[in-house]
Amino acid sequence: LNLPRTIAGLDTPALLIERSRLDANLAEMAALCARYGVRLRPHVKTHKCPAIAARQRALGAVGLCAAKVSEAAVFAAAGFDDLLVAYPLTGARKVAALRALPARVSTLADDVEGVRELDAAWSGEPLPVHVKVDVGLGRVGVRWDRPEAVVALAQAIDAAPNLRFAGLLTHAGHAYGAAPEDVARIGREEGERLVALAGAVRDAGLEVPSVSVGSTPTARHAVAVPGVTELRPGVYALNDANQVRLGVVPVERCALSVLTTVVSRPDPDRAFCDAGSKVFSSDRGAHGQAHGDHGLVVDRPDLRLVALSEEHGWLRGPARRGERLRVVPAHTCPVVNLAAEVWLVDGDDVLERWDVAARGCVR
Ligand SMILES: Cc1ncc(COP(=O)(O)O)c(C=O)c1O
Repeated sequence: LNLPRTIAGLDTPALLIERSRLDANLAEMAALCARYGVRLRPHVKTHKCPAIAARQRALGAVGLCAAKVSEAAVFAAAGFDDLLVAYPLTGARKVAALRALPARVSTLADDVEGVRELDAAWSGEPLPVHVKVDVGLGRVGVRWDRPEAVVALAQAIDAAPNLRFAGLLTHAGHAYGAAPEDVARIGREEGERLVALAGAVRDAGLEVPSVSVGSTPTARHAVAVPGVTELRPGVYALNDANQVRLGVVPVERCALSVLTTVVSRPDPDRAFCDAGSKVFSSDRGAHGQAHGDHGLVVDRPDLRLVALSEEHGWLRGPARRGERLRVVPAHTCPVVNLAAEVWLVDGDDVLERWDVAARGCVR
């Protein structure tokens, strides 16, 4: 496949990644972790690209975090050898798939039944298993205000012959639904709640090898809490309009945009572009917490992307038929997951084409 020299040679819709922004995002998070002596384990569900993970590794990432076993498998095949699948694996089939990966793997559990299943289906070198803690999102995990349940689950993992207690792990995803002024507090709480629980587990006589936090909005606040040992942000690599809304980054740090063409302009203030929900997904925020439009039309702030059909983006404002727009999506991760490829660019110059190798890996 011949690489077009400039984005004018790309058909739309297409996903662009601005190299300087990507590299700045990766370098900043690596430097933040280095400053606090915290291990960086980026979550790959955002970019799903081994080429980006290789850049993260070159900047000191200790390993990768994946959401699903099939996603981890893509990175194992690409030579990444330390993979944490941060998801409650349910059933022997999932555990067998994890065991088949050609890498050092670890995972999590949030109840005793899950621990039993992992233990029954694992063999050989003990599987490192974290206790998943819920510090406020209200998704999976043992609630942070039940220290006795956290200790009991850590003990259950420790007592399981085929498992090894790997530490505590959480994701403060409720930051996505918060007001910008509350993000710092939520980040500090994320770290402090997990560190306090690690103390309770140690008091019960167990070592806690890892205290792992991670979300992009809370990263810089949670990482500063003494006792946190690992950070697992994902979105930070590319950023999105959500992060801008939350005050995490300015729009100039959003590396990913959708290049789309205006295909119809029925009224002076109403137009349609060629990227709809099959490009943007319908996600306007993480964890179902929707805010604002479907994206930011970065080079044309007088245009808004207010709604999506499957193949049409509904624009409000004075667009011209045939003009091309760059739109930073509301939530990057589901957008990348819908694409077969991304184009690394430097302004209008096309530098590389990357496969979204783990696209659709939801098993
Ligand atoms: C378990 C877990 N760890 C880390 C992350 C990464 O956080 P973010 O998407 O804010 O970068 C997520 C995101 O959903 C997650 O669920």
